[in-house]
Amino acid sequence: MAYLSTDKVEHHFHDVVIIGAGGAGLRCALQLADARYRVAVVSKVLPTRSHTVAAQGGMNAALGNVTSDHWHWHMYDTIKGSDYLGDQDAIEYMCRAAPQLVRELEHQGVPFSRQDDGTIYQRPFGGQSREFGEGGQASRTCAAADRTGHAILHTMYQQNLRAGTHFYEEFFALDLITDEGGCQGVMAWDIANGQYHLFQAKAVILATGGAGRIFQTTTNAHICTGDGGALCLDAGLPVEDMEFYQFHPTGIADVGPLITEAVRGEGGYLLNSEGERFMQRYAPTAKDLASRDVVSRAIAIEIREGRGCGPKKDHALLKLDHLGEDLILKRLPNIHELALRFSGVDCTKEPIPVQPTAHYTMGGVPSNRFGEVVFTQGKDTETVMPGLYAIGEAACVSVHGANRLGGNSLLEIIVFGRACGNQVMKRLKAHRYHPKLDPDCWQPGVERIERWLSGSGERDKRIAQLRAEMQSVMQAHFSVYRTEDVMAEGVQHIETVAAQLQHAGIEDTNRLFNTELIEALELENLMALARVTAAGALARKESRGAHARDDYPERDDKTWMKHTLGRICDGKVELDYKPVRTRPMTVESFPPKKRVY
Ligand code: FUM
Repeated sequence: MAYLSTDKVEHHFHDVVIIGAGGAGLRCALQLADARYRVAVVSKVLPTRSHTVAAQGGMNAALGNVTSDHWHWHMYDTIKGSDYLGDQDAIEYMCRAAPQLVRELEHQGVPFSRQDDGTIYQRPFGGQSREFGEGGQASRTCAAADRTGHAILHTMYQQNLRAGTHFYEEFFALDLITDEGGCQGVMAWDIANGQYHLFQAKAVILATGGAGRIFQTTTNAHICTGDGGALCLDAGLPVEDMEFYQFHPTGIADVGPLITEAVRGEGGYLLNSEGERFMQRYAPTAKDLASRDVVSRAIAIEIREGRGCGPKKDHALLKLDHLGEDLILKRLPNIHELALRFSGVDCTKEPIPVQPTAHYTMGGVPSNRFGEVVFTQGKDTETVMPGLYAIGEAACVSVHGANRLGGNSLLEIIVFGRACGNQVMKRLKAHRYHPKLDPDCWQPGVERIERWLSGSGERDKRIAQLRAEMQSVMQAHFSVYRTEDVMAEGVQHIETVAAQLQHAGIEDTNRLFNTELIEALELENLMALARVTAAGALARKESRGAHARDDYPERDDKTWMKHTLGRICDGKVELDYKPVRTRPMTVESFPPKKRVY
């Protein structure tokens, strides 16, 4: 291929390259840029379009502004919420750091909503308690109305501009550059002008967000295509716990956009077609503020048993008009607008039609609480991949285990964004110079693009069609409830669609702003993760958190209290397992017990 010559590849040198410009990437970049390191953020979209902007309800921290609270209760709730699959050392670290980091965000400029006494406003969210057990609802979620992610992302972006972070916007990451020394950089494609770029760095940080677009109906933006996880799979590294995919109970019916849990935190509640507040049957104490997996399953059962609402009896109703227009417009203005736009409902007068919708990737790139990417070698020994880090939704630390609590996602991106920045600084002190790279290291990245642009692929199925097929298989076979037969059939379907993608082609072979090409690359990433998700789900013969099986309805701690590791070796998905880290850093561990709300 004539195009493949080094003079067409622009070579950049940075101390650190961060792939992804959401909250995790930008918090990490800020830590490093403020310390005067040369930091590059490579993002396929303009930074303020990253998906953090869509996070609504808030960020958990035991500030105790509204109810009494303590980080230890937050830790307990998170472990219980994770259905005991979360790693307790990382959870302790996150919950302890939370109050300090919320205050830091406030000082950096995040416009949190206020209480009358001027302190940060906190609302109740699902799964929050005020003791170890079922007693008392805490108000732990710090909010900027219902646009908390928007407020955090914009503040982080502005702080990075001040700190001198280098932004490479609308660049698509193609391939990790690895050698025996670890990860040395990344190859990327400039979407606007079709140029190749080799970013050489002493640390590469994956902050690429989740993979919600493997499903048909999702709260996730079109950009949530699991790019970091797919880069790792391509480099022979595993991804962890991909079978645990969170369905948010209240996506707008049929279309998906998120209606924040804050609606229920402020006093809204769910109704079935009989006008019944059904959550009290499923979670007598927490009711509508049980954890998300519990509420999503309850809605699914109501629908399955014929008590769904609407002509198709396929959704529940979320009632909030009783909260009054003043409160709705002050605390939930975004919800008011979303409900109007996407379902034509004025929620100050009528309930919003809602249904469980794919929302959050609990799994991701295996990493420790310092953000380092880890993999297992032999039985139970964890090894760090030198120079490679993962943070935010792209990572699996694992603080969310089998089910994330609402409000812990914005927390995670800030806590581990900062922790990773600090850890990277230690590496940078020991690695002062860029090593010499293999002169051909850029080839795989270039070939990934040139195969599509050569126009040689089959075009009987368009990329959009293959994507729709993958999404519909994932939705139908790996949804809120799962069974052996349905999943086994799903695995076969996914493998068939994946095989078709291998030979597919695109119509547009232009190099400039070729969106069909970008969609093809994104579909490659999604497909790899969908395959691992499907295989991991079929293999796990128990119900835990978001993985609910009709045929194995109980949690099985004896056999299955372990993390799944999925790899793609010689084109085939391979699964392995590693133990859960049940020892916290300083306090006693919380042993598994029955989870009731
Ligand atoms: O419901 C919500 O506002 C979502 C929050 C979250 O996913 O943490």
